[in-house]
Amino acid sequence: SAADKGGWSSFMAKEISEEPEAVANTVRGRVGDDGLVHIPELEGLDELFGTISRVVVVACGTASYAGMVGKYAIEKWTKLPVEVALSHEFRYSDPVIDEHTLVVSISQSGETMDTLMAVKYAAAHGAKTLSICNTQGATIPRESDAVVYTHAGPEVAVASTKAFVAQITALYLFGLHLARVRGTLSEQALAENIAQLQSVPDKIAEVLTQQDEIAQLAHWMSDSRAVLFLGRHVGYPIALEGALKLKELAYIHAEGFAAGELKHGPIALIEPGQPVFVVVPSPRGSQTMHAKVVSNIQEIRARGAKIIAIAEEGDVAVLPFADTVVRVPLAAPLFEPLLAVIPTQIFAMELATAKGLDVDQPRNLAKSVTVE
Ligand code: G6P
Repeated sequence: SAADKGGWSSFMAKEISEEPEAVANTVRGRVGDDGLVHIPELEGLDELFGTISRVVVVACGTASYAGMVGKYAIEKWTKLPVEVALSHEFRYSDPVIDEHTLVVSISQSGETMDTLMAVKYAAAHGAKTLSICNTQGATIPRESDAVVYTHAGPEVAVASTKAFVAQITALYLFGLHLARVRGTLSEQALAENIAQLQSVPDKIAEVLTQQDEIAQLAHWMSDSRAVLFLGRHVGYPIALEGALKLKELAYIHAEGFAAGELKHGPIALIEPGQPVFVVVPSPRGSQTMHAKVVSNIQEIRARGAKIIAIAEEGDVAVLPFADTVVRVPLAAPLFEPLLAVIPTQIFAMELATAKGLDVDQPRNLAKSVTVE
């Protein structure tokens, strides 16, 4: 009912508005008096975490893209190799796992059958299992050795939004917890990273103030037949997620690509008028990566692409080539995806709305897929 939506036009609109809280609530209670990450649920597991040599993330859909983002952070902070596998591919790939492997599952519902079966397979083959889940007492956390709950609150809309940012948050908390236990980051680096994470909710709130401009853009683009998304490094999974949202909600053919792959194929798709979202990495992170993405933008612009750049405030390098620039506040590179994803979610919701579609209940989809 309208009352449950708290005055919002859809659950999805309400859930997007709750993203700052989803991140803040997931961090709450997990930073100790020393200013470092201590996840109470993982107390007593230091010895176990000391023995692992590898992490494999298993998930489906949006949760798998959260896993891809998490890989960059966990590898950087812990120096453990992290692999991300789709749950349904993992089990049939004869995966290399043993008692030194930690299998981290990510699931909003905690009931996705493919992910549950991947966790059971991992446990049966001697791996340790950790569940990142948004639903207290769901099946996947019950089947796992440990659980880190995301506190996004109930997510009703079929397409995941606030759970996604909460999943990245939980993976980052876990990465910082692990780095402290394993001694792979200095206290200063641990503290700086948690401070970055704590600043994310206010920054998401800033992105949300651009809702009307993004809605207008979606309105203009409502007869697009295909939309492409490009990203690099942590922006790559955001390109994949942005494309998934558009498929799910607006039934538009959308593809996400690693920007560096452009010249290996996707550039052939560019024709005059083709809309392309580009997640632009901060020039304050890797200048090389930033320059390469700007050069990708020039290449496709020269072939007539219509560019929607998602770029950090003050990044003027994109201005001459972008048809539209959506700004995100400054953040350390690893934290940019938590901001850059927001405009893509709003865009998909607004475009579906402009087409008169039901954004909460897209056709053919279920909130939680409990069959294999
Ligand atoms: C379904 C939903 C997606 C979700 C995926 C994984 O396909 O429509 O939005 O990302 O399942 O769900 P989970 O509950 O495991 O995160």
